[in-house]
Amino acid sequence: MSRPSFWPVPLTGAVGALLALAMGGCNGPVNNQQGHMPAQPVAFSHAVHAGQYELDCQYCHVGAERSRHAGVPSTSVCMNCHAQVKKDSPEIQKVAAAVAANQPIEWIRVHRLPDHAYFNHASHVGSGLVCQTCHGPVQEMVRVEQVEPMTMGWCLDCHRKTVAEQASAPPSLAPRPGELLALTSGAPLPEPSKLPRPLRPPTDCSGCHR
Ligand code: HEC
Ligand code: HEC
Ligand code: HEC
Ligand code: HEC
Ligand code: HEC
Repeated sequence: MSRPSFWPVPLTGAVGALLALAMGGCNGPVNNQQGHMPAQPVAFSHAVHAGQYELDCQYCHVGAERSRHAGVPSTSVCMNCHAQVKKDSPEIQKVAAAVAANQPIEWIRVHRLPDHAYFNHASHVGSGLVCQTCHGPVQEMVRVEQVEPMTMGWCLDCHRKTVAEQASAPPSLAPRPGELLALTSGAPLPEPSKLPRPLRPPTDCSGCHR
């Protein structure tokens, strides 16, 4: 069998079906779209917005910290600025036309996992990972490109490294200065998601195939 050593574990249900799929002639990752860089209906540039003008990623991708999908902003977010900025640009007029017609812009997806794999932004961003770890230097991109392979091996590699690091150097759970101050002065506690805590990324099949 040409599969890596993590295969021989008890398999049931959906995962067993996946294994059957893999052994039934599937020759490798279906999702390796590394380098995928589709043209978009409006020439929106991250290099201008997130790079030159330093807009925060989550100003537009509001779901990243609290839900499964980071999401793409609605046209009304664009019009916060473009009702004034560059109104005469043909690209901005496409945005204005979509707003007038009450239609979304049909952005082309760059990253997409197959349905059988579960990924959630909130749990990754909440554990302190920055967008660029998985998406590369988006703030330098004129057109978004998939930088990482986003295959199962890629996911597992980080999960296994994290588990190993945590085993050798678990985070200190002692209160930090800000927390002590909060307890003694009534000041607001630091956000719970920012507190050090042990990270437990799954390495078992059912962690990512549910
Ligand atoms: C002004 C709004 C805005 C800001 C700020 C912004 N983005 Fe985006 N982002 C968009 C829009 C619109 C799209 C869809 C069009 C495209 O792919 O360029 C998008 C697409 C993406 C995609 C591709 C989504 C897919 O289809 O797979 C990623 C990844 C992404 N952004 C990450 C980031 C990161 C990281 C930052 C901060 C460095 C950032 N964005 C800042 C508006 C924004
Ligand atoms: C916070 C303000 C802000 C927001 C929000 C914003 N933009 Fe921009 N955008 C700018 C600025 C500033 C420029 C650069 C203008 C210049 O070159 O003089 C720009 C440039 C552009 C251009 C290039 C226009 C040209 O012809 O040079 C496009 C296209 C564009 N934005 C699309 C969008 C889209 C689509 C969204 C929503 C997803 C968006 N922008 C959201 C501020 C914003
Ligand atoms: C641990 C890796 C990882 C991190 C960190 C991460 N992403 Fe993603 N992102 C992914 C994967 C994997 C997908 C494809 C998800 C799918 O198809 O279900 C994706 C898809 C997206 C998409 C398009 C689909 C969606 O979910 O809305 C956007 C936009 C996006 N990411 C933006 C961001 C932004 C902004 C950040 C930082 C705040 C970020 N991502 C952090 C891995 C990551
Ligand atoms: C750069 C490191 C990194 C990469 C790449 C990464 N993860 Fe994670 N993953 C983590 C960390 C850290 C956690 C958080 C563990 C915790 O909170 O205890 C996590 C947690 C998870 C969880 C459990 C929490 C939840 O959301 O249910 C799942 C499932 C998961 N990751 C799936 C994936 C998948 C699928 C991919 C690849 C598309 C991926 N991860 C890529 C680091 C990573
Ligand atoms: C950390 C998350 C994660 C874990 C753990 C994980 N997988 Fe996956 N798996 C993925 C992702 C993401 C994909 C889709 C990308 C790809 O095909 O590489 C995938 C794809 C697959 C595929 C389809 C591959 C193909 O070539 O079509 C099979 C079969 C599979 N996984 C079985 C398993 C089994 C069995 C286990 C346990 C031994 C397991 N996975 C553990 C994330 C994970």
